Amino acid sequence: MQKELLARVKAGEGEDVFEKAFEEGDELFSTEFTATQGVGANVGNNERFTRMPRADRKCPGEWLTYKAARPTGPNAQSCDACHNRPTDGAGFIAANVHRDPNHTGDPRQMIQRNTPHLLGGAALQRLAEEMTKALFDIRAAAGAEACKNNQIATGRLVAKDVDFGVIRATCFNKAPQFDTSGVKGIAEDLVVRPFEWKKSVIFLRDFVRGAAHNELGMQGVELVGVGQDGDGDGVANELSIGQITELTVYMAAQARPTTKTELIGLGLLNNPNDPESPQLPTDQAAIDRGAVVFGKIGCDACHKPQLTLVDPIFREPSAMVEFRDDKFFESKQNPVQEGLDWQYPITFDLTKDHPDNQITRDGKVIHLGSFTDKDAAGHVIIRLYGDLKRHDMGPELAESIDELGNGKLTVIQYLGGQPGSGAGRSTFGTKELWGVGCTGPWLHDGRATTLREAIRYHGGEDSASRAAFNKLDAASQKDLFAFLYNQVLYVKEEDSTEAPDLSICQPKD
Ligand code: HEC
Ligand code: HEC
Repeated sequence: MQKELLARVKAGEGEDVFEKAFEEGDELFSTEFTATQGVGANVGNNERFTRMPRADRKCPGEWLTYKAARPTGPNAQSCDACHNRPTDGAGFIAANVHRDPNHTGDPRQMIQRNTPHLLGGAALQRLAEEMTKALFDIRAAAGAEACKNNQIATGRLVAKDVDFGVIRATCFNKAPQFDTSGVKGIAEDLVVRPFEWKKSVIFLRDFVRGAAHNELGMQGVELVGVGQDGDGDGVANELSIGQITELTVYMAAQARPTTKTELIGLGLLNNPNDPESPQLPTDQAAIDRGAVVFGKIGCDACHKPQLTLVDPIFREPSAMVEFRDDKFFESKQNPVQEGLDWQYPITFDLTKDHPDNQITRDGKVIHLGSFTDKDAAGHVIIRLYGDLKRHDMGPELAESIDELGNGKLTVIQYLGGQPGSGAGRSTFGTKELWGVGCTGPWLHDGRATTLREAIRYHGGEDSASRAAFNKLDAASQKDLFAFLYNQVLYVKEEDSTEAPDLSICQPKD
């Protein structure tokens, strides 16, 4: 099927291919896969699913011995079993995922994650691509300078207003050598990773393939190889390369999050003439004041209100080698030979092509799902309230292990010992706040049941803005929450006649 997609892209039918892939991906996202299709895995003892990682099941073909190691699950039958609030969105605590990345079998070394929403995905990946390119250029320039002058050169790693520290270059045998000890909030390879709570996954396809395997036990052939039953459930070829492409395109082209202000402006919310329109009490003056408070107390140091994109075309596969597969993981297939050719990607334009949230007014189509605003330089504005960077959030948010640590995983001395910060256990990526009004519970493990609690858990690098928040009078705090609750997820599919449900986006405090 992937080869057919490729042939059609080459034949100039790219637009149709994109639309069809989005539709098929939509289907796949909500499909409740069955055992015949290969859902689940042989956990051991004839069990098919497990919410508890089972590193103790280590016989051949059982949990610990799969081809494509897993830290969790299989947890569910469909993607939207977890990503369901409101649509393709965030998850309840009951949808939390428990992971044992080190395969210890020891619950004290397991971590848990709350399900995030998936809207606007392509914009995050495109921002990361452009930022990575900028950082690579800075590194290359520092290297060239060091070799030209034969002395230490320093590059300031600033990409799209986000400061990733410094890189120092020296020259040895005419080749640049780099000292990355001054690099901050990003991996030493300078690749900006836009996905996961820890900002550890580079591109959407990689995430989708991993989620299918880890959460559903649906193994793509690109993961394990053609004809391979990697998870011992008696089924091979559980998802084709084309199906992973479709799911990826569907994820990428999710509409952007929006605001109540925008929805009211379009008559989609609080419309007295439309009984279908959801009713949510809002106070625009409070929202506007709250936006000012957000900046004044320094929340915007990390939750940057906007970053801009030069090139709004999303490509699957990406034009950048870091953001696509060079070789398919364990299957060692060559993606290009399998029809996944980066020179002929499936593309769409972030400024107008999102299939959902196209709203017709007076015969004109308003692309509420797309990123239609541009700045004075003509760059596309992405209002994400994030910086795609990792920060040390302090001991209160620290986990028992450092999931990204280079195999050096420190266990909290849970009997009396204090979880220190640093060492990566308390490091998380700035969570984009777009849509945050509808995604509770909040924080990486869903521990915050109100936005006030979410702020209370900010520590480490962020002690200053939390302290400033605590000093605000009650009225200003309320304005800040009005501003945060103005950020909502709203998805109206093309053929749906139902009004989207915004009832979960009501302020609670
Ligand atoms: C059992 C619940 C569950 C199921 C089922 C599930 N996910 Fe997720 N998903 C999560 C959690 C939890 C995270 C956050 C993981 C992390 O950051 O550590 C996540 C994160 C993601 C992300 C990254 C979002 C971001 O901004 O970082 C994508 C994309 C995604 N899932 C897609 C999928 C797809 C596609 C499927 C089906 C093949 C799926 N998920 C099935 C729970 C689930
Ligand atoms: C030093 C950077 C930094 C600053 C400053 C900061 N945050 Fe955060 N914020 C983060 C990180 C990192 C996370 C993710 C924490 C986690 O994964 O548990 C986060 C998460 C959040 C969340 C939860 C989002 C979700 O989807 O669960 C909210 C709400 C939030 N921040 C609001 C604020 C507000 C309001 C301020 C100002 C008082 C603020 N933040 C200041 C880095 C920062």
